[in-house]
Amino acid sequence: QKLDLEMAAIEKGGYDHFMLKEIFEQPDTIFDCLRGRLDATKGTIRMAGIQQNIQQLTQAKRIIMIACGTSWHAGLIAEYIFEELCRIPVEVEYASEFRYRNPVIHPGDVIIAISQSGETADTIVAIEKAKESGAFILGVVNVVGSSIARISHAGAYTHAGPEIGVASTKAFTAQLAVLTMIALKIAHEKGTIDTTRYMQLLGELHSVPEKVKEVLKLSESIRGLAQKYKDAKDALYLGRGYNFAVALEGALKLKEISYIHAEGYPAAEMKHGPIALVDEQLPVVFVATKDSYHEKIVSNIQEIKARKGRVIAVISHGDSIIENMAEDCMRIPETDEIIAPMLSVIPLQLLAYYIGAVKGYDVDKPRNLAKSVTVE
Ligand code: G6P
Repeated sequence: QKLDLEMAAIEKGGYDHFMLKEIFEQPDTIFDCLRGRLDATKGTIRMAGIQQNIQQLTQAKRIIMIACGTSWHAGLIAEYIFEELCRIPVEVEYASEFRYRNPVIHPGDVIIAISQSGETADTIVAIEKAKESGAFILGVVNVVGSSIARISHAGAYTHAGPEIGVASTKAFTAQLAVLTMIALKIAHEKGTIDTTRYMQLLGELHSVPEKVKEVLKLSESIRGLAQKYKDAKDALYLGRGYNFAVALEGALKLKEISYIHAEGYPAAEMKHGPIALVDEQLPVVFVATKDSYHEKIVSNIQEIKARKGRVIAVISHGDSIIENMAEDCMRIPETDEIIAPMLSVIPLQLLAYYIGAVKGYDVDKPRNLAKSVTVE
């Protein structure tokens, strides 16, 4: 027993929980994911599974992302990235819904199946169904040799290392890194991105691990915010564009770890419902980094403030406009809007973690949840 406890402490490397350790590993896991693939100086992305099937991918009339949970959120962000860079229509499907309906799939459609474990039952069956209809299956998987890796026609591993905490953190940012590289590679090959933008995005991607280190320096101040907001009964998370699915992911993390009811929404859509919940008790977390939606989200913040909601915001360094409006801010380094989710999600992972931890919950094993859902 004592030995088991000591072993567990060693594996956690001095962190209280695996989840915190895994959040802090992200500069390394993203670096490992890019290593040997991305050369920002030469302007190359080496991914054998993509290169060998490049015709199939560039000629795709449609891409369908299939996943569950946090991996589904990575798919939503990838939808925006692929449509912007590759000009290919993308749909994002919950595996559990896709498998039971009668989806229209044409031979030549490309399915990108996203899974940390590679063992999620619904995702496996959805892939098999699409495969029968002649789709090409590309797996974006973390666990090497897992079922999804084996049944896919081709793939790209996320190389984030074993993820023990039930709530996915480092696997998510690695999925984003891989999906961004795949999109850039297809776009470059198809000619839907110009060289300047391509080189600029490669450079931004290359600098992500260093910028993640900067974001992690917020840890102590976010622990303070956790103390302040831990007794909230509900929370609303809002974002637009590339940060829309980051808001969903932030809300999911909070629900999973702290058992606080949280909803993620596209910031403009709140007018159609969630705004009815806003009062002086409700924390509203905005994911509002500097991007092409900035002006729009500033007016969404005003709408919340007008109803006395408590605004907490993830913003880019030096954004004095939102700084003057929000009750609390988490400031992250500036980057391109396509890359931003890899940074903007991290303060939300930390916030959920610390709220769960200060409440004394077993954040590595939240009640009713499993790391990998191998039953339907
Ligand atoms: C479970 C886990 C989540 C994960 C989801 C999908 O619900 O608790 O963290 O996002 O399954 O898992 P996958 O392994 O397919 O990414």
